[in-house]
Amino acid sequence: MSLMSNLSTSMTSSSSSAFLAPTSFNSSRTQRVSVPVKSFKICKCVSTPLEQQQTDYKTKVPRNSNIAKLQAGYLFPEVARRRAAHLLKYPNAQVISLGIGDTTEPIPDVITSAMAKRSQALSTLEGYSGYGAEQGEKALRAALASTFYSNLGIEEDDIFVSDGAKCDIGRLQVVFGSNVTMAVQDPSYPAYVDSSVIMGQTGQFQKDVEKYANIEYMRCTPENGFFPDLSTVARTDIIFFCSPNNPTGAAATREQLTQLVQFAKDNGSIIVYDSAYAIYMSDDSPRSIFEIPGAKEVAIETASFSKYAGFTGVRLGWTVVPKQLLFSDGFPVAKDFNRIVCTCFNGASNIAQAGGLACLLPEGLEAMQEVIGFYKENTKIIVGAFNSLGFKVYGGQNAPYVWVHFPGQNSWDVFSEILEKTHIVTTPGSGFGPGGEGFIRVSAFGHRENVLEACRRFQQLYN
Ligand SMILES: Cc1ncc(COP(=O)(O)O)c(C=O)c1O
Repeated sequence: MSLMSNLSTSMTSSSSSAFLAPTSFNSSRTQRVSVPVKSFKICKCVSTPLEQQQTDYKTKVPRNSNIAKLQAGYLFPEVARRRAAHLLKYPNAQVISLGIGDTTEPIPDVITSAMAKRSQALSTLEGYSGYGAEQGEKALRAALASTFYSNLGIEEDDIFVSDGAKCDIGRLQVVFGSNVTMAVQDPSYPAYVDSSVIMGQTGQFQKDVEKYANIEYMRCTPENGFFPDLSTVARTDIIFFCSPNNPTGAAATREQLTQLVQFAKDNGSIIVYDSAYAIYMSDDSPRSIFEIPGAKEVAIETASFSKYAGFTGVRLGWTVVPKQLLFSDGFPVAKDFNRIVCTCFNGASNIAQAGGLACLLPEGLEAMQEVIGFYKENTKIIVGAFNSLGFKVYGGQNAPYVWVHFPGQNSWDVFSEILEKTHIVTTPGSGFGPGGEGFIRVSAFGHRENVLEACRRFQQLYN
């Protein structure tokens, strides 16, 4: 497929999200613009678009009606598509991306060296290895248990190493199947809702409220401190809960998580706790749901090296499914998860696992913390810039995301205005659910000079 047709189509092969984005860019205009080759690399985040071939032939295979329920494109490919369209419109623009939330800083050498060594060893008879354990290498599982869950009663065999948290969210949904109900923070990372729709756990999208039927949206706003009022939340089988939250940056306190665990226990629900950003926390809120007594009987935790060590491209994560967690018939959830992992996944890359192991050595942990400190400094700069302009700003303290309030405004309009006038890519809050309307998320993943330049442009726009 030509790059031009890549850019001109609005269809992407990614899954969808609970947002309805107005398509405001004129594709016939953009097709005529000639783009310098160097700009093309900026389009790399665009998901592989579906080729729209002219053909009358159709197979007899019906489309999965659950996938057909999804609205528009998955949020981040849609943001990337708009960025690409913007570049076609302004080929010389110095676009700064504080949108998708991809890491930008190099992986520390102590980690890549371990991967390089493992990779080289694959060229030797002694060092070669093929398929590994689907659950991950024993040494890495043990290191994860001792690094992140020591004294929490989580053992190495409770941990499943994977190719990332998003992939595990999908596999968990396969474990749960279509006959469960689910709750989600509103706003939240779109993969929870979309995978739920794809599994057939939901009804149709309801345009008037911008929600799927049969999902319990737990509103998280500044008014409730971004923690849902559980007394108004209906019982569901599964509760997706992300802390620190993407996009709001809010981390739940020990007291709030204790309430959540009790709520799950009272209702016989399972919490899927996403701790992808736990390492960014500055206050003393729990890093893991398993810090809460009783959580092992009601919770699964998914985590990732993506934002810990810049492994967004390397791909490595893990999910903890405690052996104490049982379905209503007494069958261990971990055994079914293991079955799905063995059926749908063949284990994380051995090279990536060597990198993961290096991350957890003392020098790896130190190097990781240094990069995280850099992003945290970026976060402070962004928070400072919006504060000085008089905006109400949330997040930032415990997560690399800044959640900026534009009361009464439409998120996609704010996103478009910022992009048009400053060439900065952000993420519209409504893309994370109706509760995100009126906000934009500004990511702190970026080179320092870009973050500083972005803040200068925000100053110019809003001063
Ligand atoms: C809350 C949350 N969970 C999971 C993921 C995906 O992580 P991974 O790269 O490990 O698939 C992301 C990525 O942005 C995220 O924000």
